[in-house]
Amino acid sequence: MHWTKSVVAAIATCALSVSIGALAQTAPLPPSTPSAQSQPTGPEWWRHAVIYEIYPRSFQDSDGDGIGDIKGVTSRLDYLHDLGIDAIWITPMYPSPGIDYGYDISDYTAIDPLYGSMADFDNLVAEAKKRNIRVIMDYVINHTSDQNKWFLESRSSRDNPKRDWYVWRDGKGETATDKGESPNNWQSWFGHSAWQWDEKTRQYYYHYFYVQQPDLNWRNPEVHKAMDGVLDFWMKRGVAGFRIDAVSRLYEDPNLHDDPYLPGHNAYGDRNIQHKYTDDLPQVHDVLKEVRSVVNKYPGDPVLVTEADEPNVEALAKMYGNGDEVQLPMDFQIADVNKLSAPRFRELFNEIESNSAHGQPEYFFSNHDQPRQWDRYGDGEHNDQIAKLMAVLELTTRGTPQMYYGEELGMRTTDPARVEDVHDPIGKLGWPKEKGRDGERTPMQWASSSEAGFTTATKPWLPIPPSAITYNVEAESKDPNSILNTYKTLIALRKSEPALRDGSQMSIGNDPDVFLYLRQSGNAIVLVAINMSDQRRTVGVKPDEYLGSTTARLSTLYNSIGNASELSPAHIVLEPFAAVVAKVQ
Ligand code: NOJ
Ligand code: MG
Repeated sequence: MHWTKSVVAAIATCALSVSIGALAQTAPLPPSTPSAQSQPTGPEWWRHAVIYEIYPRSFQDSDGDGIGDIKGVTSRLDYLHDLGIDAIWITPMYPSPGIDYGYDISDYTAIDPLYGSMADFDNLVAEAKKRNIRVIMDYVINHTSDQNKWFLESRSSRDNPKRDWYVWRDGKGETATDKGESPNNWQSWFGHSAWQWDEKTRQYYYHYFYVQQPDLNWRNPEVHKAMDGVLDFWMKRGVAGFRIDAVSRLYEDPNLHDDPYLPGHNAYGDRNIQHKYTDDLPQVHDVLKEVRSVVNKYPGDPVLVTEADEPNVEALAKMYGNGDEVQLPMDFQIADVNKLSAPRFRELFNEIESNSAHGQPEYFFSNHDQPRQWDRYGDGEHNDQIAKLMAVLELTTRGTPQMYYGEELGMRTTDPARVEDVHDPIGKLGWPKEKGRDGERTPMQWASSSEAGFTTATKPWLPIPPSAITYNVEAESKDPNSILNTYKTLIALRKSEPALRDGSQMSIGNDPDVFLYLRQSGNAIVLVAINMSDQRRTVGVKPDEYLGSTTARLSTLYNSIGNASELSPAHIVLEPFAAVVAKVQ
């Protein structure tokens, strides 16, 4: 076996004779029982985990107010267990005025009554534990709500002890009667100036996101103490770690240099800008090390996931530190390829595979901030097939996959039709160029019954997409070829096949349409071939070179297209958009 070879070649196939042997499609696995599935335990559990993001407002409503809640999540743990999920990341459930739907936190150590009580939360953690499901919390570290008592104090007077917990600056040319201009040209990610004038104390405060989300001043040691306390609070309640929000935005240039402008304008009408002086300042890594050292006081190998849309693999790799920062920086490069391109995926997967920190990759294709993958990668005609292909990519590559609720059903983005119906403030400000993020936050589709089984209310907080009639858990559970059963099958394979669970990954060849790779652990080898084109394609590997013997054969573990197709190592015939997972024998 020459697994470490760097020069690899796909075999051109036209010369070989074609004998199409019928290959059975893999039947979906029966629902698993707790004992039937090996759940990750012990150190480095996060290497083998499948993480599932829950947007609590939209997952399951238990009390009929049209808004999802904690008891709702608890009631669906069996579904998650059956799917093979090992950890849930729940987006913020803390008390919040809800301008940014929970990302504006007014109290970090409490539960918003909208979602339930602390007892409900403790019960969720306990019930999840019974099913070997860990709970990851959202740690919103860059900013608080303007209704947080810390900020209310900070803005109350210039000499308040918490004044310096936030970023306050004088305006340019400010006088006793004139507020002057904003301290510099920094812009909010959500449009317009990042500085907000505060009349009472006659200074500007800085906010990278909404006006109602003032940035904490991480140069103040008391902020560190207070935020470390937040970590302690939740670790003591049994959580498995944190997803750290917007971490690259923590520090700003103290000299307030203007950011450089880029060509064009954004959806809000502002000049485009490069956030050069407010993103990725080196001190961010000191904070990540600090967070690591706080959570490491607790048993169970707590996990840290970072949201950081790093521009390249070098920047991403820095998030691992020397093994003393985060284990799982979300890979936005791969998430945002945004088209089916075998060469691009090959390049990016190769890059992260050989990242300088030897860190574990974290793959995702959807979350609560971006249109769903069903639409982003679909071609408008074969979206279901493509959804299965993307599931293969997410679940058979070497890394920790992070799913977003409903992606396993092929939920699609359903934007509001009218500006009056928009909830997310950026959708109001940027309409119609930017419709906001409501479209990817619609309620989970459990059943074809009224309100998709999400709520008993007649009006859920966001409308149920029309696709819920056919794309729902109830209907898809019964269909062996559904997207849901694809996810189930693939997640189970990740756990049962040593090569998929622990194996290294190597791309083969440079086919323009087919992403072909091997996973290998010891003698166990699994081959994955994904046809990203709408044409039938044929690829192959030299069995003696890659599969350990000239007589190696492939047996199908999963084939996303039911049709018969040929599958011999040197001659793998793939239908349009087909993805095949096969074991070498
Ligand atoms: C990233 C979160 O995912 C997004 O939903 C939020 O608006 C911003 N951070 C600000 O907290
Ligand atoms: Mg409710």
